[in-house]
Amino acid sequence: MNPSPEAMHIHEAPPPVPQHLALIMDGNGRWAEERGLSRAEGHRVGAEVVNRIVRVCRSWGLKHLTLYAFSEQNWGRPEGEVKALMALLLQYLTDQRQDILERRIQLRAIGNIDKLPLWVRAPLKLLIKESKEARGMTLNLALSYGGREELLRAIQALAEDVRAGDLDP
Ligand code: FPP
Repeated sequence: MNPSPEAMHIHEAPPPVPQHLALIMDGNGRWAEERGLSRAEGHRVGAEVVNRIVRVCRSWGLKHLTLYAFSEQNWGRPEGEVKALMALLLQYLTDQRQDILERRIQLRAIGNIDKLPLWVRAPLKLLIKESKEARGMTLNLALSYGGREELLRAIQALAEDVRAGDLDP
């Protein structure tokens, strides 16, 4: 995802809109380094761009927006960077709470949410609950996500159904 604000003049004419748009938030570090800025600054601008993308998608009438924001592998980054990313997420949830509710955006999260620190998990879960009935647009935040982990969870759920006798192996 290119966080360059100059490249974001996308709110002029609504194009034909798909049902579901999924974006991988990538390149924040490279974007910052190319400009002689810190990686932290790249993430900060990236979070700002998220805000603009959400607004534009909502105004286009998109049904579902999925943002791949923080992968399972991202836990392996330096502690300070992980903490800064969690802080940005908290800031986004705090700053945008009112707007999300007013625009009838239903916030959801996919991934291993229980791994998030409580100080960000609690407000995340609260806003998910508060926006549960909203039908304007679904905003899925993929946090602590990973292809392998998703496969494992899906297979475990299937195995549970087999054990319960609800599914024929
Ligand atoms: C990829 O850039 C981006 C991330 C690992 C994190 C993105 C998450 C946030 C900005 C937190 C806020 C989230 C929301 C939803 C508001 P990179 O560091 O991998 O960049 P590089 O590939 O250029 O190194």
